[in-house]
Amino acid sequence: MNFVSKNTLSIPQALYIHFPWCLSKCPYCDFNSYALANKSLIAAYVNQLLIDLGNTAKDCPNKELISIYFGGGTPSLLLPRMVVTILERINKLFDCTPEIEITLEANPGTIDLPLCQKFREAGVNRLSLGIQSFSDKKLQDINRIHSAKEALAAVKAVKGAGFANFNLDLMYGLPEQTVNDAIDDLKIALDFAPPHVSWYQLTLEKPHFLPGITLSQLPQGEKLWDIQQAGQECLAAHGLKQYEVSAYAQSLVDRCKHNMNYWAYGDYIGVGAGAHGKVTSSDYAVKRYEKIAHPSKYLNAESFFESEELVAKEKIPLEFMLNALRLYQPISFDLFQKHTGFTIDIIKKQLQSAENLGLIELREESIYTTEHGKNFLNDLLEFFL
Ligand SMILES: C[S@@+](CC[C@H](N)C(=O)[O-])C[C@H]1O[C@@H](n2cnc3c(N)ncnc32)[C@H](O)[C@@H]1O
Ligand code: SF4
Repeated sequence: MNFVSKNTLSIPQALYIHFPWCLSKCPYCDFNSYALANKSLIAAYVNQLLIDLGNTAKDCPNKELISIYFGGGTPSLLLPRMVVTILERINKLFDCTPEIEITLEANPGTIDLPLCQKFREAGVNRLSLGIQSFSDKKLQDINRIHSAKEALAAVKAVKGAGFANFNLDLMYGLPEQTVNDAIDDLKIALDFAPPHVSWYQLTLEKPHFLPGITLSQLPQGEKLWDIQQAGQECLAAHGLKQYEVSAYAQSLVDRCKHNMNYWAYGDYIGVGAGAHGKVTSSDYAVKRYEKIAHPSKYLNAESFFESEELVAKEKIPLEFMLNALRLYQPISFDLFQKHTGFTIDIIKKQLQSAENLGLIELREESIYTTEHGKNFLNDLLEFFL
């Protein structure tokens, strides 16, 4: 019998709120985001968000939240009073844990010191800044709306407003980027002593989508590998520990609680255009849903659900592993059991095969991904597909 009794269920729950617009659409971006044609749409969107929130809360058995994440798009285009309204509604509908993390993503071209102060007064306690690079040339190559000077001013504004908890997003693998260019970007970011850095490799679904840039101008193969190695060393030397493929934090408490919950197969409510949700019921049945993605449809919607699906029971252990293996930390058998309802025996065969190949180690009732496993993460994931 691999299934545990249902009264042990205790799965943390996060709330994601999607804001679908930006001042302009970056050509490399694959997120559900659109250039904002008319600012008056934002107030109408917030009204719909509040309805969506109320409807979704009704169907949600667990009322406790560990984190709230305003993601986008560019949620820093919301007015602070709108953020207040949304957070007040959330407080009425849910029980927020006292140490709740409330993140808002901001584009450096949309914020200044007074706005950061107002977001903080509104209740946001973590800002995530989309810096990408501190080089004007690189920012122009990828068509960002802001300059390097504005990127610097944005980090100063976030710190000046008193945000102790903040994240800087940087990308590597940018056109013609050398190891030195990438390290320069990281060093400028690290001078601000950020508690958290997300260092993403630029991925292009359609390479021709960077206007004026050819595929051959993007670092690949050994060049990209060298950038990655040098960047990881630089981050480590500044005390930023990697805890996921692209995420680095000063200490355990600086890790992004919201994303950690996704990777640990926690539950999440999704509100807003194209938002995804995952709810586990008391018998460990997992339901996934997606909200209507296009903002114009979402603005006129009465029911916000685009799709709902019950995850097949046999897929749940595999889904857990695909998420948890992204985390560079041991996965306890206990967490597996708490979040899936299955005992670890259900994936014993796969674990043993992966251990035989040196991809993981099984000890202290936990799964440890080895260095070899981290370098060949896709091979490791294959075992659970
Ligand atoms: C949804 S954006 C939020 C921030 C805000 N919209 C901005 O761009 O300033 C989150 C982050 O994803 C990263 N990102 C977006 N598109 C990417 C891509 N094609 N490859 C790698 N990283 C990407 C960027 O670092 C970006 O800051
Ligand atoms: S500002 Fe951010 S979300 Fe918007 S298009 Fe650019 S990368 Fe995507």
